[in-house]
Order: sequence, then C-alpha cells, then structure tokens
Amino acid sequence: MQIGAVERVRLGIFPTPLVELKALSDHLGGPRIFMKRDDLDGLGMGGNKLRKLEYAMADAIEQGATTVITTGAVQSNHCRLTAAAANKLGMNCQLVLSGEEPKIATGNLLLDKILGVKGIHYVSRLSQKEKDASGHDPVEEKVAQIEEQLRSNGEVPYYIPNGCRSLHGALGYAGCVREVVEQLHDLNLAPDCFLSACGSVSTQTGLMLGSELYCQAQAKVIGISVSRDKDYITNKLKHSLAEAHDYLGLNGLSSAEIIAYDEYIGDGYGIPTPEMKEALSLVARKEGIFLDPVYTGKAMAGLIDLIKRGELRKGESVIFIHTGGLPGMFAEAQVASLQF
Ligand SMILES: Cc1ncc(COP(=O)(O)O)c(C=O)c1O
Repeated sequence: MQIGAVERVRLGIFPTPLVELKALSDHLGGPRIFMKRDDLDGLGMGGNKLRKLEYAMADAIEQGATTVITTGAVQSNHCRLTAAAANKLGMNCQLVLSGEEPKIATGNLLLDKILGVKGIHYVSRLSQKEKDASGHDPVEEKVAQIEEQLRSNGEVPYYIPNGCRSLHGALGYAGCVREVVEQLHDLNLAPDCFLSACGSVSTQTGLMLGSELYCQAQAKVIGISVSRDKDYITNKLKHSLAEAHDYLGLNGLSSAEIIAYDEYIGDGYGIPTPEMKEALSLVARKEGIFLDPVYTGKAMAGLIDLIKRGELRKGESVIFIHTGGLPGMFAEAQVASLQF
C-alpha cells in the first residue's frame, strides 16, 4: 500500500516551516543546522503527536468511536494534543494520568482542563519492575474500567496508547521527511541527517521509514533518548520499523541504520541536566527560539555534543526536529528546577 492511500484526517497545518539556524550553526562551527518547526503545527499548541494523531483519529472515526481514551504522565504533551484533536473532531476524551493530582494545575494539565476533558483519572505511577512484581498495571486496569463503563452507556471507546501506536507514528513522520526533502530541494540541498528526541520511538521510526522511502536511506536518523536505554530503543525500533514495512508491503528497500544515544538523559526523564539548560539558553539567545526542557532541550544538548565530537561535520545538512513540548516548561516542578 502507498502511504498516501492510508486513511488520515487533517488536524494540523502542514507542511510546517523549515528554518535554517544560521547563527547557531556559525557559533557551533559544524554542519548547517535546519530546524523543522513541528512545534508550530497549528492545533492545541502544537507538537509531534499531531502527525501521528492524524492517522490514529482517522482509525477512531472509521471504528465509529465516540470517546478516545489515552494515557501519559500528568504533564503529557500527547494527552494534551489528543484532547485537542478529539475536540476538533467532536469526540469526547478521557485521560488516565500516572501520578498524583497536583493542588494547582499548571502546564499541560492546565491546558487539558481548558480543553474541557470529560474525565481525568489519576493512577499510581509504577516502574516496569514494580508492575512485573505485582502483576498489576494500574493504567491498563483503569483504561479497561473506563472502556467497560462507556460501552455500558452505549458509547464506542477508542484507545490510543501513550505516544500513539508506532505504526501511526511511522506513517506520520515519514510524511515529515517527505516535506523536508521537498523544502531542501528548493535550496538545491538534500538532508544528510535527521535528529530528534526519542521517547516512545515512534517519531524516530517514522523518520527512518521516511529516510528509506524518500532519501534512499542515505540520510542518517539519530534519536536522542530522554528516558530509555539504548538497548531498549534499538529493539523497539527494529520491531516498529518491521511492522511499518509489513503494513505497507515494503521489501527490498535499503534499510536505515539504527542510531540512538542514551547518554544525554542525565538523572532521568524530565530531570534537567546542565547541558540541556545550556542548550535551551543558547538556542534562545542565538535564534530567539524556545526549546522545552524534557525533550527538545536534551535533544539539542545531544546535537551540540555530537558536533563537538566531530560526528556531525561541516558541509552536512542536519535537520533538527522541533517536536514541541513547550507547555511542559511551565509545569510547577519544571519552573522550580529551571531557574536561570
Ligand atoms: C515534545 C515531545 N518531543 C518528543 C517526544 C518523543 O516522541 P516519541 O514518543 O515519538 O519518541 C515526545 C513524546 O511524548 C514529546 O512530547
């Protein structure tokens, strides 16, 4: 099947702008850096999830869904954008958030409330080890309970996993590569490398699929992990890319190399690092563009370090994907630890 024939519902404003970061590139003395502004994709304060949700929500409509249910952290960008997409399409949305309900809603949670999410459910945040040991997953149990309740009220629930199904991410981000290839073509350039933050890995899967489809796999795709170790990411990428190949009936393509770094996470997901803070202020001061502390700030810290290490060189065109996430900067915990 061709990607263009897969059912999709328009949610964002695409193509997003591609801008050259000239002052930053000159300052770093390495490759030409371009930024793909997926933070400006036009709905619910924007971000990478919109490209994926265009496929997920099309599937929800196809299945006659009346309510979408999704999950994430209390400050989830994905939850905020799913709620915005549901509003735009006239569906209800319920969120299962891992963590405690804060006294004051800030950042993404405040936006969830402004969006009027029908149900926000808080469940305990357990590590994978704790889930394995107890045999319980509070998120899964809560989702099942909500689904049952909705069905008994005659509704049709549709579940979107945290970060979206990897297939939807793959389809969405292959489309991002296609846009970049066209935008650079106008400048008589081709992308040498895409770099983005990596969480659930579906963005990176899509960039790799896009590199295979639109760049003969000659554009490297670098994922900078914000939470998981390299082995986990490598394994998950292998599976999700294979799933996308199967779905589209692709074989015989040159395959993209898996390149993932886990050394920029610091003490953990959402915990600031000095390099992330430096990257945040450098990009703001050189380009007047804000990055977020949880995803794009750490990804930029990775990009800066890879240039210093000589792994990205002068003469190359590197595309940094601005995946959004800015509302998270104004979460209470971030504000407290992010003083400059
Ligand atoms: C702002 C932002 N950037 C990057 C990511 C990571 O994307 P993915 O989950 O597709 O790896 C996320 C995921 O939540 C995000 O919210």
